[in-house]
Amino acid sequence: MIRPVLKMGDARLWRQAKPVEAFGTRELHALVDDLRETMQQLDGAGLAAPQIGVDLRLVVFGVTHNPRYPEAEAVPWTVLANPVLTPLGDETDEAWEGCLSLPGLRGWVARAANLRYSGFDADGRPLERTVSGFHARLVQHECDHLDGVLYPMRMRDFTRFGFVDTLFPGDRLATE
Ligand code: NI
Repeated sequence: MIRPVLKMGDARLWRQAKPVEAFGTRELHALVDDLRETMQQLDGAGLAAPQIGVDLRLVVFGVTHNPRYPEAEAVPWTVLANPVLTPLGDETDEAWEGCLSLPGLRGWVARAANLRYSGFDADGRPLERTVSGFHARLVQHECDHLDGVLYPMRMRDFTRFGFVDTLFPGDRLATE
């Protein structure tokens, strides 16, 4: 089921989300299906449960070829519950980000360039990956939603924050 995506300003986006405790349930699989359908309908690269008002530490993400992300590398479809993120080294990488909770806006955000992350899929199977680049950025963006953090809260230069049609006239650059 496609669910409404909460927009910045909704207090439910500021919560510290609660751990997933019951894996493999009908309810959790239904929630994952809703996240996937909602994300795909909006051409998103990822979506976090708090963005549809569900107070759980659960994100989904994945990019195949998407015309909204002509530069983006492919990221495998992933369901990630109770994630733990470990930046590797001090190197950062800056790029434009967008968010389905801030439609039409983009901001320039620094993220750890290299990242190890772990967590569980919807059946409780453990997952661990070491990634970089767009994949690392996407995971950091989505998992920030679980701690009530939206990308503008990571920004340092607000001259590089604005409406996508003004920043990139005629372009389709996007993230999340
Ligand atoms: Ni987002």
